Amino acid sequence: MNYQAPRHPDFTINRVPEQKLRTLYRADRFDLIDTRDRRYLDAVSGAYAAIFGYTNPDISSVMADASATLPFVHNARFRNVYADEFARRLATYVGDQSYRVYFSVSGSDGVEAAIRIALLYQISKHGPARTRTAALRYSYHGSTHGALSATGHLPARRCYADTLADVVRLTPPIHAAEPAYGTPVSGMTDACTAEAERVLGATDALGLAAFVVEPVMGNAAGSVALPREYLRRVADLCAQQDVVLIADEVTTGLGRAGPPTACMLSAVRPDILVLGKAITAGYFPMSAVLVSERIAAALSPDLNLLGHTHSAHPIGAAIGIRVLDRLADEELAENKTAIAAEMKGVSSEIEELTSVKYVRGTGLLYSVAFDTEYYQRVHGRSASSVVYDLCLEQGLLVMPGTCVDENRGVLSDHITLAPAFSMGPGEVEAIFDRLKSALNGARPVPADAPTKSRPPQRARN
Ligand SMILES: Cc1ncc(COP(=O)(O)O)c(C=O)c1O
Repeated sequence: MNYQAPRHPDFTINRVPEQKLRTLYRADRFDLIDTRDRRYLDAVSGAYAAIFGYTNPDISSVMADASATLPFVHNARFRNVYADEFARRLATYVGDQSYRVYFSVSGSDGVEAAIRIALLYQISKHGPARTRTAALRYSYHGSTHGALSATGHLPARRCYADTLADVVRLTPPIHAAEPAYGTPVSGMTDACTAEAERVLGATDALGLAAFVVEPVMGNAAGSVALPREYLRRVADLCAQQDVVLIADEVTTGLGRAGPPTACMLSAVRPDILVLGKAITAGYFPMSAVLVSERIAAALSPDLNLLGHTHSAHPIGAAIGIRVLDRLADEELAENKTAIAAEMKGVSSEIEELTSVKYVRGTGLLYSVAFDTEYYQRVHGRSASSVVYDLCLEQGLLVMPGTCVDENRGVLSDHITLAPAFSMGPGEVEAIFDRLKSALNGARPVPADAPTKSRPPQRARN
């Protein structure tokens, strides 16, 4: 392909800094193809979005129909039939028809909108004193100001130093959920729950408006489900204190963790649920903020609340309706179950590889974590970035990630796998074959390699 090098600078957040981006020009089912005609089997659905892979004729035809029929509607002037239908169907799909839906453009501005709605709710109920958000360490909520302020993932926040909004930061009990971190398990959930009780108990003193949480923490933390009892307790405390519970399910929404929402794993119903990515299967930038009737009822309809030029876009909504049609398909549900079983099964095999510290995950979202110190010593850079490169060399696209603590340094250095829901067994097998080849090349067993029987090392600075 005749391709000219780009002239625009690359400001993108969450890149691996030392890596030069390759340029794609086409896709084919689950493969992405770059300008040198190298193919990459996509093991991460782009970024948890392309849940049906690429080149889907039915979604392309829905897009073409909607763009021929009603390509744009300004949501400040009109409603549109596609967005109305999508809102109704989405609320039903996540199990609560009474949710009111605000459609936005990205996961970040969905979280941003959720925080703003929470603030407006608090102003109407408690006056202007409740202004702060509580959020968890190691979380990722997006790149706009409010969403990045809520984000605990240090690599994303670092360059903004102290300029972000002041957020009350809590520790998630993910060490308890994941013994392989090497932290003593006992007491971690209790200690984190006690911290949540203290913080929420001081709601008025702290001026708390909202608590933002990912029920299953994504790549920034390494695909870790919060313990159910912790999430339930946080939900109860939020309800008692009238703090708005915002579930950020931009990554997990519509079935990535198993059920339609990851909150369902803990039988928690958030006041506000944020969805993104998968809702248009990656074909269109769109997010959805589902607001409980209780919160919505407190907002004055006279207020100029929220909205972007492209909010509630009819083409995105038309695609979303088709996505929900496909998710209702029993064969697809069975396929998802089969992929999840395969991932769980292969996990223990991958875990046996010497380069791997541990594998963990839920549903169709798994992270493989590596021995950080080894990669730093031998390659001079993070394991995730080395393995990411080696996977690309094997024709496999994964998501690199590190979970960093401000005091304890790197807690987890990993890659994440999140295959498309519609992948066949051949593709799933190819993911693991290529990953194993990459890992076997990634780390020739050194003479001083720790054996598998050694307890996991505690992460150090
Ligand atoms: C949990 C979570 N929230 C919010 C976002 C931000 O979404 P977007 O990148 O669409 O703005 C992401 C993106 O990865 C995410 O994983």
